[in-house]
Amino acid sequence: MACPKIAVYPGSFDPVTNGHIDLISRGVKVFDELYVAVACNQAKNNLFSVCERMEMIQEIFADNPRVKVSTFDGLLINYVQEVNAHAIIRGLRAVSDFEYEFQMALMNRNLAPTVETFFMMSKDTYMYVSSRIVKELASLGGTVSDLVHPLVEKKIKEKYRSK
Ligand code: PNS
Repeated sequence: MACPKIAVYPGSFDPVTNGHIDLISRGVKVFDELYVAVACNQAKNNLFSVCERMEMIQEIFADNPRVKVSTFDGLLINYVQEVNAHAIIRGLRAVSDFEYEFQMALMNRNLAPTVETFFMMSKDTYMYVSSRIVKELASLGGTVSDLVHPLVEKKIKEKYRSK
């Protein structure tokens, strides 16, 4: 039997946006298993805890057992190898994403030459959507219903109501 094709889609996902959801949905059509790996990056001032971020993604993809949601700390490449993945997926929106992504992909290849990074173009509708912009909009009372899943919208509203 052929080895399952396993990929990791890492990110902060604070919170998961429709852009991320689109990428996960398309990525899992290409790979047998897709690990959505929520980074435990304490340095960032996150709105949601790692558990909250994971729970939202888990709920959204509850009916797809090939989407696995987990978390990682430290080097991404170590986590990729731990789950026996051979691919990393990253989304590209605008040219501004490129330099950072290019640097990260080359560094990861340096660390583990057998792991490939695959870039997927964002859907045009979500080209401008980021977790940061969603949070900024919501914090200022704007509506984010076109940018995030209804479940995420509810959680964001709860967060800003309690702040
Ligand atoms: O959603 P983000 O914030 O763009 O995700 C960035 C992330 C978490 C994927 C990236 O910062 C990362 O991989 N961090 C783990 C540390 C690491 O392995 N860095 C690259 C080699 S130095």
